[in-house]
Amino acid sequence: MSQHIRHFLQLRDLSQQEIAYLFERTRVIKDRFKRYERYHPLIDRTLVMIFEKASTRTRLSFEAGMQQLGGSAIYMNTRDSQLGRGEPVEDAAQVISRMCDIVMIRTFEQDIIERFAAHSRVPVINGLTNEYHPCQILADIFTFVEHRGAIKGRTVAWIGDSNNVCNTWLQAAELLDFKVHVSTPPGYEVEPERANLTGTGHFEQFADPHDACRGADLVTTDVWTSMGFEAEDAQRREAFENWRVDAAMMGLARANALFMHCLPAHRGEEVDADVIDGPQSVVWDEAENRLHAQKALLEFLMLGRVD
Ligand code: CP
Ligand code: NVA
Repeated sequence: MSQHIRHFLQLRDLSQQEIAYLFERTRVIKDRFKRYERYHPLIDRTLVMIFEKASTRTRLSFEAGMQQLGGSAIYMNTRDSQLGRGEPVEDAAQVISRMCDIVMIRTFEQDIIERFAAHSRVPVINGLTNEYHPCQILADIFTFVEHRGAIKGRTVAWIGDSNNVCNTWLQAAELLDFKVHVSTPPGYEVEPERANLTGTGHFEQFADPHDACRGADLVTTDVWTSMGFEAEDAQRREAFENWRVDAAMMGLARANALFMHCLPAHRGEEVDADVIDGPQSVVWDEAENRLHAQKALLEFLMLGRVD
């Protein structure tokens, strides 16, 4: 396979400089879009999106984004394609990547997307795996920067499950030099190897979620039960009961702290309604920025640097 293909399988596939560049492009692309200025650098290019799990935001932002850049997007899922009937991932990668210019995959184990990428002729983007959700964190950090400036040196409090979104925040902290305070229930702690971290210097684990929130510039959480873990739902509801982000936790963070959630959210479970619907919450900007950040990513992976 060609060596020059750039995949985005986890956040650390990008360097700190490349993330800075992507944020510059996100700004430009977002501003143009807001001014209704046509920008069609991906004319005649096709994105194939493969979903093995449900999605609203990821599908919509990639599909709309690709169209807005002048290209087209094709949606596939495992229920009504051969992908769900045992065709080897390697074969699917060979075929699909001969018919399009870029692929986005939402699947279960990271190993699946890595095997696909190893046999793909075109760039592959991780649209969420059990281990990582790198597109989400690009949008989240862009949103933080829009509201509060550079994230370097800041503190992010992660409350709840040490899941795919948490792992990606931890990678981001290493890449962009900020700190993550993590609080999970016992038995759900961060696994640095699964997060693929180079060290442990950019995060700290707290037994009490209130302590994790103290002095934070951003408080963030996610569902207690991620897709693929539904069998553990009852057990998790019990374990996570005290890991609901509420006004008391937000009150311990900095006065101008933001609240984020990748969505979909469950009010009264991982977050109280008065927090997610309150003045510190930027969840709608966060969701919208998926569109703009991913347009910058699509442009970068297909065209390289354009400035
Ligand atoms: N945050 C996120 O990825 O949402 P979807 O599952 O709706 O794509
Ligand atoms: N952690 C969640 C994120 C959904 C966007 C999941 O994997 O289901």
